[in-house]
Amino acid sequence: MKLEIIFLDLTTYKTDPDFYENAVANIFDSNYVNVENQLKHKNVYFVIAFMDNVPCGIVRIALIYKRKTVYCIRQVLVLEKYRNKGIASKMYEKCIPKLKELGATKILSFILQQNIPSKRLHSKFGFYNTPKGYYENTNYDGNGELEEMWCKKI
Ligand SMILES: CC(C)(COP(=O)(O)OP(=O)(O)OC[C@H]1O[C@@H](n2cnc3c(N)ncnc32)[C@H](O)[C@@H]1OP(=O)(O)O)[C@@H](O)C(=O)NCCC(=O)NCCS
Repeated sequence: MKLEIIFLDLTTYKTDPDFYENAVANIFDSNYVNVENQLKHKNVYFVIAFMDNVPCGIVRIALIYKRKTVYCIRQVLVLEKYRNKGIASKMYEKCIPKLKELGATKILSFILQQNIPSKRLHSKFGFYNTPKGYYENTNYDGNGELEEMWCKKI
């Protein structure tokens, strides 16, 4: 089994736009994400995992509005049959140093209280549950009070 992890920025995307649009659409099972638009205009990056060339996991990261060094993990998803094999961990191993290179000082992630696999993943990478404070009124918290804010300083 060959696992490949790609950090997708605009430069990498331009090498094969259709390939990356399809990979993201396959993982989300939807065409709603316009990858090019997000990379160009929304300060978004993706990390995509391929197992034997099949897209099987994704992380979507966005720079928080009006902040220059605070990023938020908007989605981390591994397709069900590929879970618990270390794929999300490999994506974070790629993603966190890249964000640091881009100038990140802090990464946030909003996690549902009962999402044990996600909490395990985030704890393993040094994220911790922290009061929302300044971020209480941002729309990064899609599920409102049910979600905890986890944070990692880098
Ligand atoms: C959360 C998620 C991305 C983890 O992906 P994954 O590839 O299975 O994660 P990994 O295999 O790298 O495991 C990471 C850690 O979580 C633990 N873990 C994974 N699945 C677990 C489970 N079902 N129960 C308990 N722990 C679990 C692993 O043991 C590992 O910790 P360890 O290395 O100390 O053993 C995946 O479960 C998923 O896509 N869930 C649905 C979407 C979701 O909830 N995303 C998070 C939104 S905040």
